[in-house]
Amino acid sequence: MTPEEQLMHRAFELAQLGVGKVSPNPRVGCVIVYDGKIIGEGWHQKFGEAHAEVNAIKSVSDQSLLKESTVYVNLEPCSHQGKTPPCADLLIQHQVKKVVISTIDSNPLVGGKGIEKLRLAGIAVEVGILEKEGRELNKRFFTFVEKKRPYLILKWAQTADGFIARSDFDSKWISHEYSRQLVHQWRSEEDAVLVGKNTALYDDPFLTVRDCAGRNPIRVVVDRSLQLSKTLNLFDGTVKTICYNGKLETEAHNLSYVKINEANFLDQVLADLYKRGIQSVIVEGGAKTLNEFIEKNYWDEARIFTSNKVFGAGIAAPKINNTKSIDQTVGDDLLVYIKNS
Ligand SMILES: NC(=O)c1ccc[n+]([C@@H]2O[C@H](COP(=O)([O-])OP(=O)(O)OC[C@H]3O[C@@H](n4cnc5c(N)ncnc54)[C@H](OP(=O)(O)O)[C@@H]3O)[C@@H](O)[C@H]2O)c1
Repeated sequence: MTPEEQLMHRAFELAQLGVGKVSPNPRVGCVIVYDGKIIGEGWHQKFGEAHAEVNAIKSVSDQSLLKESTVYVNLEPCSHQGKTPPCADLLIQHQVKKVVISTIDSNPLVGGKGIEKLRLAGIAVEVGILEKEGRELNKRFFTFVEKKRPYLILKWAQTADGFIARSDFDSKWISHEYSRQLVHQWRSEEDAVLVGKNTALYDDPFLTVRDCAGRNPIRVVVDRSLQLSKTLNLFDGTVKTICYNGKLETEAHNLSYVKINEANFLDQVLADLYKRGIQSVIVEGGAKTLNEFIEKNYWDEARIFTSNKVFGAGIAAPKINNTKSIDQTVGDDLLVYIKNS
């Protein structure tokens, strides 16, 4: 890595501190360098609060050095008035010497205008440092803005012989407890978690974050004919929950029933999630639901646990044809991450 890439990498690390707190805003970190030394750092900490550049500038004790400093930021500084003033204006106001950016902001409100503003003010701007990594860091944000749908993560646990549940719908004890803990962390990182009707019925999950610290995602269940009992844990009212169905439209006590026409059901669900500003969804099954996302090619990555248990028969796990990207062991399970290329 070049020194410039190392500094951008540091901005990425800072940006990651916003995971689970800044959505639907992007994750942004900022490093300020004077004479080869880091003199300031900041990151976007919470949705609606100060952006990374503001926090980084604030952290510099001798503000007179800013004029001779280079600012490393993973996303193009914003040029529009949102919940906070434009960051490009702040950098111009402090007359920083140079701004190094990893990725351009594809939000149409910014889309290169921040860079243009900086350049017009005489600030040198370099774009595209570790761009691939920068896009990966904000894959949820870019997918949401560019594809007008949430970033979709499919997750399931399968036995060594390829089943996600027994024939009687029992799916307990497939994955290792460490895998289940990891899933709680994943939930805390996404805006929503979605399951199909049978999973809600047979597993009666809470779909909350309990095995680690973090915020609960919005719970989403698909129940086309509205067959699920209101006594299920999903409907306990403790967490915002959406039930997509073909019959009822109501909203009360953290629970929204959203009526969807049968034609293109999934497209409409995704359009509604987009309209609600939900930037990412982890789809936790079951097989029918996961297969529907796969068939329509509505997925960005899959995270599959394979345990060493054998069921012999049951509900077959979904199959996904794609390039295996990474695999690792979690407890006794093999975890494979697959990217939709
Ligand atoms: N091992 C794991 O990781 C894991 C994870 C989750 C669940 N599970 C297990 O999976 C089992 C449930 O799987 P499942 O496949 O039966 O059910 P599911 O995906 O949870 O729900 C399927 C339900 O969705 C509706 N549906 C109808 N058409 C559909 C379509 N084209 N695509 C998607 N959904 C459609 C149907 O109900 P409506 O038409 O009435 O809406 C159907 O009953 C349970 O035993 C659960 O324990 C295992």
